[in-house]
Amino acid sequence: MAKSVYINGRWSDGADDWFEKTNPATGETSWDGQASSPEQVADATRAAREAQSAWARRPQHDRTTILERYAEEITKRSDDIATAISNDMGKTAWEAKGEAGAMAAKVGISIKAQVERAGTSYSEAAFGSMHLTHRPHGVMAVFGPFNFPGHLPNGHIVPALLAGNTCVFKPSELAPSVAHVMADAFAAAGLPDGVLNIVQGGRDTGAALLDGDINGLLFTGSAQTGLFFHKHFAGRPEVILALEMGGNNPLIVWDPADVDSAADIAAQSAFLTTGQRCSCARRVILPTGKWGDQVVEAIVERAKKLKIGDASEEDAFMGPLVSEQAAQNATDFQMMLSKKGGKSLRRLKRMDRGGGFVTAGVIDVTDANDIPDDELFGPLMQIIRVDDFDEAILRANDTRYGLSGGLVSDNDALWLRVHAEMKAGILNRNRPTAGASGAMPFGGPGLSGNFRPGAYYAADYCAWPQASQVSDEATRLGAIGFPK
Ligand code: NAD
Ligand code: SIN
Repeated sequence: MAKSVYINGRWSDGADDWFEKTNPATGETSWDGQASSPEQVADATRAAREAQSAWARRPQHDRTTILERYAEEITKRSDDIATAISNDMGKTAWEAKGEAGAMAAKVGISIKAQVERAGTSYSEAAFGSMHLTHRPHGVMAVFGPFNFPGHLPNGHIVPALLAGNTCVFKPSELAPSVAHVMADAFAAAGLPDGVLNIVQGGRDTGAALLDGDINGLLFTGSAQTGLFFHKHFAGRPEVILALEMGGNNPLIVWDPADVDSAADIAAQSAFLTTGQRCSCARRVILPTGKWGDQVVEAIVERAKKLKIGDASEEDAFMGPLVSEQAAQNATDFQMMLSKKGGKSLRRLKRMDRGGGFVTAGVIDVTDANDIPDDELFGPLMQIIRVDDFDEAILRANDTRYGLSGGLVSDNDALWLRVHAEMKAGILNRNRPTAGASGAMPFGGPGLSGNFRPGAYYAADYCAWPQASQVSDEATRLGAIGFPK
């Protein structure tokens, strides 16, 4: 049985409902324990509160050094991290190792970002000097999603700690194991007790954390949950909310010379991580006519042939979806599209090997009606054929979301239009929509977030600016009309 509450550097058993996670590739139990109770969540928050002012008072250099040591400890544990992630949510070995690498790399990126975006500055003025500094918010609740259960919460926790906040982290209940390895790495790096606390569990545990004594909520997850949190904190401007949500991302493919490259970019955009990336392309928009037909055929060919397997199969491109339920949701979504007039070009199907395994699907929805503007978090590409480029941009922007998007084309003029007109925070040309750089901001308009982009800009929401005018002596101001 797994321990599920980490407070002041010690793990203990949870005291609420039992929950377990099974590996969607093998059906084996990967995590089994009791959720943290509301009292335990309150204890975790209290520990974070008690540790916060001492942590914030330490010189920046100390916090930076501890985080640098954490990066080293993460690197030492990269195999354990990859195994924990693959066992819980089925990620292929190469991707899980990549996630561990991204967690270590996050530290250097965050240190640079903090200096650049949330550091200190000084300038001389007639009265003396002006100082800009940044202050931590206090206690941050961090909610993680299952698809990058290490990398994405780590992307909130590292900048939050660097800035002098303390954290209470609630991992996704669909991928709880990696948090244990993270706790070990932080402890080995010398992070003081209470600076990072962890509570395991689902919505009830999350709800207790929302109602706790927190100064900020750093969230990566679905739009549905993010909207719920946004409403929950309405009227509480003193609580900083950073909401990183999903997308219904478009990719326009328009006449590049090389059909195979176009199909590669589109298929990788849609099927990477079994479609379980927020930045995956969901809608691929192509011109009507022969050239568009060729690209669609090449995409379908790739969907048929890409290798699907578990973490022991080194050459697998896609693993399973996170759970059997997710596999069922994906087939249901496809069925719904078919009922609305979508024409299946390659069906997303549950595979004989069971669990979360599904094949990659491609469905042409050009003539379908009432397609919901929803994110299906799985490997299903919707094809939309249009007669001209104006319509392509209109269809691309026909979404409440705005996370990622792209253009595959050799035509510079079309790229200039897309760059100016497409509504997406991550907007690429001749590159997959997924696979963002940690050295850039990550987020987008609409239902994809609340304009608090993460990754390189996470430093912005982890601290607030304090501007000071400083004169060493109190002197008379001599304002006009003021008594001498
Ligand atoms: P989710 O919203 O279901 O869960 C995220 C976290 O919120 C989990 O820890 C969950 O327990 C918690 N939670 C959910 N409902 C809650 C409630 N009512 N009260 C308290 N806590 C609650 O997301 P998920 O399914 O784990 O992740 C996939 C989603 O995340 C996709 O929509 C994807 O697009 C999005 N995502 C966004 C980004 C980004 O940076 N924009 C990155 C990765 C994933
Ligand atoms: C994600 O956060 O889901 C994916 C980020 C990316 O790879 O673009």
